[in-house]
Amino acid sequence: ENGALAADALSLSAHGGRFVRACLRRPVDRTPVWFLRQAGRYMPEYMAVRKHHSLLDICKRPEIAAEVTITAAEKLDVDAAIIFADLLLPFECMGLPFEFQAGEGPVVHHPVRTLEDVERLRTDKASELIYVAQAIEKVVAHFKDRLGIIGFCGAPYTLASYMIEGGGTRQYIETKKFMYRQPDAWKQLLDKLVTVLTAYARQQVEAGADVIQIFDSWAGSLSVEDYREFVLPVTRQLVREVQALGVPVIYFGVDTASLLPSMRETGADVLGLDWRTPLAEAWHRLDYGCAVQGNLDPITLFAEPDLIRNRVENILAQAANRPGHIFNLGHGIVPGTPVEHVQAVVKFVREYKPATL
Ligand code: CP3
Repeated sequence: ENGALAADALSLSAHGGRFVRACLRRPVDRTPVWFLRQAGRYMPEYMAVRKHHSLLDICKRPEIAAEVTITAAEKLDVDAAIIFADLLLPFECMGLPFEFQAGEGPVVHHPVRTLEDVERLRTDKASELIYVAQAIEKVVAHFKDRLGIIGFCGAPYTLASYMIEGGGTRQYIETKKFMYRQPDAWKQLLDKLVTVLTAYARQQVEAGADVIQIFDSWAGSLSVEDYREFVLPVTRQLVREVQALGVPVIYFGVDTASLLPSMRETGADVLGLDWRTPLAEAWHRLDYGCAVQGNLDPITLFAEPDLIRNRVENILAQAANRPGHIFNLGHGIVPGTPVEHVQAVVKFVREYKPATL
């Protein structure tokens, strides 16, 4: 079934309907809201689970991953729940083991550096990721259509950067060296990622995910020229493959002001916006040709509620009641963020009345 048709059958005001409709730029009764990293270390309930389980342990045990997902969405009373998982999970089934080291983020022990390394990567074992789909099934069974259920995967560029650097990086030197100096191996690497990510997204959609978000968190490290030459074609292919599964796609990156028109060419239904460009300006530059999600600076959540309300209302005013805005942060909630401030944002979005009405 086609995602757009399925969404039409959803009621205007059910949380799930509200969120999916906004992704498709259909009118809604109020702006839907959810948060990047809404289940994370700022939340005591998450830390309580983390005391007894590693991050990978949570991801791989569907009942725990579902519980963490549900707890965060209910505590915040948001319109969508993003499945608890991690961007790097597909590495394992491709034959590239990694671990999370305390305080340092992910570490890939044998980074991809040569054509032979790329040729060794497997693309036929995506079924090993089925635990994520099983967690989605549990979340869907819990919420029914009360909330939108978001599945996700990484984008080829951002995942390739972790594979090649072996972890996080500031300058992407190894990634860009690989891209410039071994263009054939680069192409093969990104093609392999698209194969695995498409299968992974299919599992998630079959399990009941309403929308897939593709995280290209570090796309903003690229010039427009390099993005268009080395990343856009293969990303467009992934977006199309996922849309062919019948769901809208949210394509997200950070520091993307100059890339937005090129990112739109992927054909994604929704683009995630960071806070460095005012929402009105970004959407205008996109010719209102897609929905947008964002774009509060996550660090604003440390301010007093009056200031937070002001910033939330400014974003909503810029969206000007145009169909196709999903309220969110420009990047994930960081540890130490007061939970009550996150809850206050939900309340501010709900209470907002456009000045013209
Ligand atoms: O509610 C949610 O959004 C949680 C689900 C989620 C996680 N990772 C769990 C997680 C999601 C959507 C991700 C995506 C992810 N993973 C991204 C893209 C999102 C973004 O922030 O741009 C990236 C780049 C990763 C890779 C990753 N995972 C890094 C770089 C780190 C370490 C940095 C950090 O914040 O600690 C992780 C760890 C991680 N993944 C945590 C969580 C809740 C925090 C660590 C922990 O619980 O031990």
